[in-house]
Amino acid sequence: MEMRSIKGTNDIMEPEINKWHYIEKLARHLFESYGYQEIRTPIIEYTNLFKKSIGQATDIVKKEMFTFKDRGSRSIALRPEETASVVRAYLEHKLYKKSKSVKLYYVGPMFRSEKPQAGRMRQFHQMGVEAIGSYDPYLDAEIIALMYNITTEIGLRNFNILLNSLGCPKDREHYRNVLKQELKEELKNLCQDCKQRYNTNPLRILDCKNPHCKKIIKKLPSPIEYICDVCRQHFEKVKESLKAIGVPYTVNSRLVRGLDYYTRTIFELTHSKLGAKNAICAGGRYDNLVSSFGGPKVGACGFAFGIERLIMATEAEKIELKGKERNSIYVAVINEEVKNEAYKIVNEIRNQRIKAYIDYQDRSLKAQMRQANKLQSKFVIVVGEDELKKGKVVLKDMEAHTQSEISKKDLVPILKEKLS
Ligand code: HAM
Repeated sequence: MEMRSIKGTNDIMEPEINKWHYIEKLARHLFESYGYQEIRTPIIEYTNLFKKSIGQATDIVKKEMFTFKDRGSRSIALRPEETASVVRAYLEHKLYKKSKSVKLYYVGPMFRSEKPQAGRMRQFHQMGVEAIGSYDPYLDAEIIALMYNITTEIGLRNFNILLNSLGCPKDREHYRNVLKQELKEELKNLCQDCKQRYNTNPLRILDCKNPHCKKIIKKLPSPIEYICDVCRQHFEKVKESLKAIGVPYTVNSRLVRGLDYYTRTIFELTHSKLGAKNAICAGGRYDNLVSSFGGPKVGACGFAFGIERLIMATEAEKIELKGKERNSIYVAVINEEVKNEAYKIVNEIRNQRIKAYIDYQDRSLKAQMRQANKLQSKFVIVVGEDELKKGKVVLKDMEAHTQSEISKKDLVPILKEKLS
């Protein structure tokens, strides 16, 4: 049997992994500065958790979950997303008793059995936030601002924040009926999927990419036309708060989401160079999810970035992620006689928690320099016989293309200073 990874999954390694480290570090820093704390939930959950939260009639639950039976014949799923898991943990640990406002973030793999294509993986990674405990529209705006700040901090420019409101469950029910009424005559002309959606989840029809359906959808009213006054005021406040802090957005009254738990504000951050799967980040309010699981009545809002798509967008915009910065040392060994000394030097450098490499392949100096470049080393220390006799080594600056002889005993303090 040929050993290969499963289609739609990826090995993430050098040099790509540097981008992941950079993005995750930046996101963690920003999440924490907005008051979020990390949560790590299990990758497996009872399938029912997702059925009850994402919705029985959604594509994710109907056809995209990886599920299996455990030995007790209980259905287990690989998590397709993490909002449901966070809400489960919030209830299981009664976090609402500890604080009125709970802000949690996560970074990790999710699983959806979709047909693999660019930007659509079976194992992909999300980094997201969930703020549970408030109905305040300022919170929606703060969360959208956090999403915006991460995106701009990474350096992306060709993106758009799409915003809409689905209203409260009553409004959604109202709109659902209007939609069904409006579509009654056209039902025969809709695609097979939409015919099904008509009965199970008519809102999803708005998101259909079939050209015939698209023509029909164009003539339909939007959910926002049917939201109540309270939900309208909430939406106005979200928009006002975003304007106040200079976060750009476009209202897209046709925006709907593929998960059923949303109420009121929904949003997506799309990138113009990603093709069909262009949402890098998405989220919204889910004010009824906690109580629908038997918990207290509390408002909640969150988002999740797809890390693969985020990286694809940086590549499309030719953004060099700063994570690639040269920050390591390469200790080059001229010959076997000086190897012991070089070995001690690399150990001393590593003891200061500075990333350092040494050659164990007996390569020529030229080959070692090439390797140092490949490894993005900032300095190469050449340990040569003549210099060692004088108690010195050569320090080559790989960016400035300069070199100097320095005393061995000054080496570590100098490196510490230069890399700080
Ligand atoms: P979602 O729209 O299903 O929302 O996923 C969020 C993001 O994950 C997408 O915008 C996309 O970037 C990425 N993504 C989704 N599926 C795939 C895939 N098959 N391959 C690659 N990337 C993918 C949620 O998951 C919600 N839990 C977001 C949320 C958090 N809402 C409230 N809080």
